[in-house]
Amino acid sequence: MTKKKINIKFKKILNDLKRRPEDAASDLGLTKKKILEILDGKRKLEFDLIEKAVKKWPVNFNEFFSVEDDTKNGYKIFKNKASNSTERKMYRAGYPYYLYKDTVMSKVSTFRPEWIQQLKIVKNSNPNNVGVRFNNGHFLHQFTYFIGPVNFYYKINNKKKVVKMNTGDSMYISPYIPHSFTTRENKKNVLGNILALTYADKLNTESLNEFSAIGYELTKRFNLNLKNKVNAFKSSLLYHLNNSSISKQNFFELSGIQLKEIFKKKKLPNSNVINRIANILKINSRDLLPPIQDHYVKIQKYNNNRSWYYPSMKKKEFLFVELTNLAHLPMSKAFELNILKENKNTTEFMIPTHQYLYNIGSTTIDITFDKKIKQKFDPGDSIYIKPNLIYKFKGKGKILILRIGGSISSDALYHLSWLSQNNLKRLLNDNKPWFNK
Ligand SMILES: [Fe+2]
Repeated sequence: MTKKKINIKFKKILNDLKRRPEDAASDLGLTKKKILEILDGKRKLEFDLIEKAVKKWPVNFNEFFSVEDDTKNGYKIFKNKASNSTERKMYRAGYPYYLYKDTVMSKVSTFRPEWIQQLKIVKNSNPNNVGVRFNNGHFLHQFTYFIGPVNFYYKINNKKKVVKMNTGDSMYISPYIPHSFTTRENKKNVLGNILALTYADKLNTESLNEFSAIGYELTKRFNLNLKNKVNAFKSSLLYHLNNSSISKQNFFELSGIQLKEIFKKKKLPNSNVINRIANILKINSRDLLPPIQDHYVKIQKYNNNRSWYYPSMKKKEFLFVELTNLAHLPMSKAFELNILKENKNTTEFMIPTHQYLYNIGSTTIDITFDKKIKQKFDPGDSIYIKPNLIYKFKGKGKILILRIGGSISSDALYHLSWLSQNNLKRLLNDNKPWFNK
């Protein structure tokens, strides 16, 4: 991290703690001159000083460091050749099981995408086949795109299941679902492979640190029931009543609404009632209607995919084929994008999420970023693109796309949007003290 960045972080910490340079100097046992030199970026903030600050103040180590930007011109490309050089064979029970290759990963986003070939060939599609080795599941969400005759196995409620997948099929599995993949024996003797795109969303390093510090015993008491809409409504209502210190009796005194009646019902109240409850609690009605998770595993066969010509039936520049998308991860969007017109695409894209692109076709595509930077995108290449970067395609081809919100969609984005453009600039580059002398 550059001296300047760490000095901005230090300044922000002093501002948040309402410490003037002389206060920081006395807290940390330094001269005021030295503190001023650090704040001016003339002196390095040594690690032992960070340790002192963490010991003295209610701050954490990570607050002194920022995310490194390893992109150039807003994107990062990983060429097929570089991907091949990361090839490694994975064994299960002493036998070769998978061949792994990295595809593009950036420090800016949480994508951890792998190309994986299934080396284990099965003669049947029995989920209890003893040769199939399940993993223990993992923390990251996983979207998978299938190429070739691949069997997808997963374990849910302690029952093993299998689905026969083929090129273009896709699936989503939620965290900690044990799973496995094999190649089905086939006449052409080809091995199947998958693009296993794992990623973190709102539960990321930062929020996990917060939950971990709160501890399991206290965290488990959140206990929101989000299995269906009615339960999700009722448990969110209890959560907000508790947070507002309004008992059910208080609520009746305030509104004349008997919550008993609402909790008795097996369906949602109408939107007028929900709005009234939200008004009384001074929250938003959407806070009472959180997303529910009704899919731990979702399988999407290619033939059942929805598709549309973009930007219109008439203009037909692109064909978007929608892959496994789910409402509880509303910003996670997976597509197979077919670029239909060789050189005549006029459409520019500017997408508000982190994007991962993999060239799954057999042709080179040219991408122009920001109206001027030209990039060759060959088969087997992958690209990470920052949100809101403008880009345009040239050349026919086929691309796999995954978009994810990361931590910067929904609430974080709303809070950011409440700031004026000026304050936004200040937020991202804050080096002013919080008051002027
Ligand atoms: Fe996985």
